[in-house]
Amino acid sequence: MTAGGAMKPILLRARGEDKSRSISTYLRMGGYGALKKALIMDPAGVRKEVKDSGLRGRGGAGFPTGVKWGFVPQDLPKPKYLICNADESEPGTFKDRAIIHTDPHMLIEGIIISSYAIDAHVAYIYIRGEFWEEARILEKAIAEARRKGYLGTNILRTGFDLEIHVHRGAGAYICGEETALIESIEGKRGQPRLKPPFPAVVGVFGCPTVVNNVETLACVPHIIEHGAAWFAAIGRNERNSGPKLYGISGHVRRPGVYELPMGVTFRELIYEHAGGIREGHELKAFIPGGSSCPVLPADFVDIPADFDSVAEAGSMFGSGGLIVMDDSVDMVWALENLMTFYSHESCGQCTPCREGSDWALDILRRIRRGYGRPEDLETLERISRYASQGMTICPLGDAFCGPISSFLKHFRNEFEDYIAKAKPLPPRTTPVLPVRSGRGRFGI
Ligand SMILES: Cc1cc2nc3c(=O)[nH]c(=O)nc-3n(C[C@H](O)[C@H](O)[C@H](O)COP(=O)(O)O)c2cc1C
Repeated sequence: MTAGGAMKPILLRARGEDKSRSISTYLRMGGYGALKKALIMDPAGVRKEVKDSGLRGRGGAGFPTGVKWGFVPQDLPKPKYLICNADESEPGTFKDRAIIHTDPHMLIEGIIISSYAIDAHVAYIYIRGEFWEEARILEKAIAEARRKGYLGTNILRTGFDLEIHVHRGAGAYICGEETALIESIEGKRGQPRLKPPFPAVVGVFGCPTVVNNVETLACVPHIIEHGAAWFAAIGRNERNSGPKLYGISGHVRRPGVYELPMGVTFRELIYEHAGGIREGHELKAFIPGGSSCPVLPADFVDIPADFDSVAEAGSMFGSGGLIVMDDSVDMVWALENLMTFYSHESCGQCTPCREGSDWALDILRRIRRGYGRPEDLETLERISRYASQGMTICPLGDAFCGPISSFLKHFRNEFEDYIAKAKPLPPRTTPVLPVRSGRGRFGI
């Protein structure tokens, strides 16, 4: 490791290679070697290796991958499925598409090994509708892998069969949530299911299903190739190991996707890798891991960027999509901007999320337009309490409540300033009916 934690790339090792997506380049770099190794192992041995590596899911929640695979009942006489979650719709998150664009075969190899480990013979890649180019890249890679005998029946003459299907979504953020994604694959409206039962037991078509993120699955060939201990040793803390793709956006000089060991500090990410804050400005705040993670003020810049350290600081590491805000940002505007997204993307199934996100957006719009009321902040806090922590079927409620409570906790003075300068609401001349977000319930 060198200054700022820089390391030899693992997940992005093909970046800059000529024709990095082609199977010949992948094979030249040793690709599909891990698959050969895995297929002569026992599936339980593959599961154990991944469990011992300490790999935690890169889709947001950081759940240990080997433990999740262990929940799949091995004795149930039903088919088992693996789903690769390539929905990547959260604002600030753009690392999965970097893997697909650079090295699709690494993902395909990860899917084949993981399917073997859980005894799945059909795998789906669920990809967001807007990623038509990425879907095409994956289809091409699947066809190449099939021609070489890495997919289809009797893979590498081991008797193991697997088909991978690319399933395109229709551009709904909620379909990144694993049970809404499963509903969508089944051809239904993408709305989350109640858990339990968890997908590992009752998933797609009522059968045991593992849903894993693109980056999670891309780590698997490297774990099999180099061993669990090698993977566990990458990073600065044993519960948060492995290489991590950090997507850095916002007011930095060099936004982009950076591969670093899990646990580099936010200071290293922002100042050493992303080139620091743009000229003439200072860091004001950052959202550590995609727009649903609570915002942190600049004083937290020295904490490690990993699951446990960010949770201790009162936020979430999420997907590792770091959104950087400098001192030019109006935090009332920033929260309104986030709420515009969440109120649009709420699937509408649960009342606290459907109504709460619209209501919060209306209040924020009113505050920013100069018509805030002193009681508005308390109402926002109440919404953020009543739509989170288990009050909704899926965590989309928490995804918009975390930003509300954290913006109010750390930047309350900016909201109070707006309200202190507010004018009284103009009298209504025509009755205004409540409308779904977009126009505002207050008619202004
Ligand atoms: C509203 C919402 C959107 C989500 N979007 C994604 C997504 O785009 N990609 C993803 O991998 N996980 C997403 N997740 C998390 C998935 O539900 C699931 O936990 C994840 O795919 C599991 O993969 P992992 O164990 O490899 O992290 C989302 C969750 C929620 C609540």
